[in-house]
Order: sequence, then C-alpha cells, then structure tokens
Amino acid sequence: MFRSFISSFIRLRRSFLVVMILFAFSSAVKAQLSTDFYQQSCPKLLQIVRKEVQNAIKSEMRMAASLLRLHFHDCFVNGCDASLLLDLTDGEKSAIPNVNSARGFEVIDAIKSSVESSCSGVVSCADILTIAARDSVVLSGGNSWKVLLGRRDGLVANQTGANAGLPSPFDTLDAIISKFANVGLNVTDVVSLSGAHTIGLATCRTFSNRLFNFSGTGAPDSTLDSTMATDLQNQCPTTSDGFNTAPLDRNSRDLFDNHYFQNLLTGKGLLSSDQLLFSGDAAETTSTKSLVQSYSSNSNLFLTDFANSMIKMGSISPLTGSAGEIRQNCRVLNS
Ligand code: HEM
Ligand SMILES: *[C@@H]1O[C@H](CO)[C@@H](O)[C@H](O)[C@H]1NC(C)=O
Ligand SMILES: *[C@@H]1O[C@H](CO)[C@@H](O)[C@H](O)[C@H]1NC(C)=O
Ligand SMILES: *[C@@H]1O[C@H](CO)[C@@H](O)[C@H](O)[C@H]1NC(C)=O
Repeated sequence: MFRSFISSFIRLRRSFLVVMILFAFSSAVKAQLSTDFYQQSCPKLLQIVRKEVQNAIKSEMRMAASLLRLHFHDCFVNGCDASLLLDLTDGEKSAIPNVNSARGFEVIDAIKSSVESSCSGVVSCADILTIAARDSVVLSGGNSWKVLLGRRDGLVANQTGANAGLPSPFDTLDAIISKFANVGLNVTDVVSLSGAHTIGLATCRTFSNRLFNFSGTGAPDSTLDSTMATDLQNQCPTTSDGFNTAPLDRNSRDLFDNHYFQNLLTGKGLLSSDQLLFSGDAAETTSTKSLVQSYSSNSNLFLTDFANSMIKMGSISPLTGSAGEIRQNCRVLNS
C-alpha cells in the first residue's frame, strides 16, 4: 500500500516534471510578440493610444511623421526597447541622427500617462511607440496592420550604437543596405520603409550638399530636378543655419501615399539617400530601382509591403518574458 503510494508519487512527480518541462518550453515559445498581449491586462489600450495620437495630429499634422520616425530610430538601436526615450546625457537622444532632429517625446509622455491612468504599470513604452507609429500611418491615409505587442523596455541607451547603426542621408546605397541587413532587414524593406518619407520634413543641412557643390562648379546634383533645385536653393540659402525645412514629399507632404516613389522617377527625391534608390550606380540599384518603379505605379503594393516591413522592423530584438522592465516614466529607468 505504502510502496504503491510511493511509486505512484514518483510517477506523479515524473509526469509533473514532464508537464513543467512542456510548460517551460511553451512559455519560451510564447515569449514572443502577439496581437492579444494586453487583452486581459489593458483591454482599451489601442483605443487610448489612437485617441492620443489623433489629438496630437490635430494640433500639428507633422507629428504623425515624427512619431513614425521615433519607432524606426528606436528599433534600429538595441532593438525596439524604447532606449531612444531615455533622458541620459550620453543617451541615444543626443546621438548625431537624433539631436535637434528627433521629436515627439512629449506626445509619447502624454500617451503613456493616459495609458497609466487606465492600466498602471502594465504597458511598455516600446509597445506605445509601436502602436503610435502604426496609428500615425493610418491617420495619414495609409493602410492599417495588426501590431504585435509584448515588448519590454530596455535598461540601457546606446549612443555609439545609434551613431553607427542609423542610416545617414549621406550614406551610399551599399552602406544603407548593410545597416538594414545588420538588423535583419532586406532590400525590399529598405525600399518600402524609405517610403515613410512620403510624410514629414527634413532640415536643409541634411540635403544642402546636393544644392551647392563647393568642391566643384557649384552646380546642383545632376540627379536633382532643376526646378526643384532652384526652389531649394532659395529655401536653404548658404547664409542660413541649415535648420530651415522642406517636405520630404513635396507632392503631398502630409498624405501617406506612393508619391514619394513617383517623385524619384522624376528626380524629385529630397535626400541623396532617397534619390539613390532610383538614380544610383551601385550594383544593388537594379533591384531598388525596379521596386521603386513597382511602388510608383501600384499604391496598394507599396502600402502592403510597407505594413509587412513595419511588422518586421517592429520585431527587431524585442525584450520579452522577464527581460528589461515596464518603465513607469518613458524617460527614466525605474529605480
Ligand atoms: C533609408 C535610410 C534613411 C535615411 C538615410 C533617413 C534619413 C532621414 C533624414 C536625414 C531625415 C530628416 C531629419 C532632419 O532633418 O531633422 C528624415 C526624416 C524622416 N524619416 Fe527618415 N531616413 C531613412 C529611413 C527612414 C525609415 C525606415 C523611416 C520609417 C519607417 C523614416 C521615417 C522618417 C520620417 C517620417 C521623417 C520626417 C520626420 C519629421 O518630419 O519629423 N526614415 N529621415
Ligand atoms: C551598442 O550597439 C553596438 C552595435 O552598434 C553593440 O555592438 C553594442 O553591444 C551595444 N552596446 C550596448 C551597451 O548595448
Ligand atoms: C525580403 O523579405 C521578405 C520576407 O520578410 C520577402 O518576402 C522578400 O522577398 C525579401 N526580399 C528580398 C529582396 O530578398
Ligand atoms: C561636385 O563637383 C565635382 C567636380 O566637378 C564632381 O566630381 C562631383 O561629382 C560633384 N558632386 C556632386 C554631388 O554633384
């Protein structure tokens, strides 16, 4: 009797062990992003974020572009972990591509505080950035997609990583492609995601190298449309500080459409890195050029590929399970 109790106890323990192993295995598999991550813990999350993004855009349409860019600049550096949002003197905010450029941090604070008042301590800043980026595209006229959630917030910012990993407007196409490849994104993603430049503004300092060739005759970049070059020379006089702005898509600056690609066909890309997708002479230009052509004539193909690439970009090295933390204030680490 006692012996059979022991043996059944051992059997039970053994099956308990099997169950535990299976459980550990399945939770390891589940330590991935999912669309229903906050269904129990914050059921109104998507509505709350949408409303806040809508408010922000109502007072300044450009905010859609700024929020979209924040998600990109977060994900490319140590993964989508809200490391960009940390207020540290040596943080990512003050890295070259972000300083005096990245904007929208106050809007993220407003969304976070609205989310906290409904479900405190549950939703990561990294997920808020992801949802805000999606909503910015939708509210600008783009296609929607289901956001994957469950990211946690990082414990470090990486300024060196931001300087090295974020693409520069002065990069060659090769350099841009390899920076995307470093985070698991391919040439299709380079072209579709560059289409984000269908909204928002850029400062003169990021493209004035194309307007005045100081080392040459002074003539603008030959791949830049000449009327547009004249307009931009007036907008960006050499005597100004470089902080005047021009729309990335002069055709429809606030609308999320495929005009960015149509512009490239006629030499109306703003940044050198934009126009290189169509007019460069790198070996890869063959494939980027044909994608530009496809997107310029098929808006739905662009919007679909863009959504898929955003999901891919949003899945770069997420912190899940018990890694990282759920930050209380997006700007500071929990104590
Ligand atoms: C392919 C390489 C890329 C380069 C070299 C690049 C570079 C730039 C530069 C120089 C600006 C202007 C910044 C300023 O003057 O302050 C800008 C703006 C912007 N970028 Fe990119 N970018 C790239 C890819 C992306 C991607 C992948 C996204 C998003 C998915 C994106 C979204 C934006 C948006 C929306 C703006 C306008 C921001 C605003 O108006 O506040 N960019 N980008
Ligand atoms: C910062 O980013 C670089 C990649 O550019 C990486 O090698 C390094 O490990 C990162 N540092 C930290 C502290 O995460
Ligand atoms: C890039 O990856 C996507 C899948 O994520 C794939 O559909 C596409 O064909 C790839 N593009 C290239 C140029 O390899
Ligand atoms: C500037 O001029 C030099 C000399 O004429 C030329 O080699 C170079 O390609 C030009 N740069 C641009 C951006 O047009």
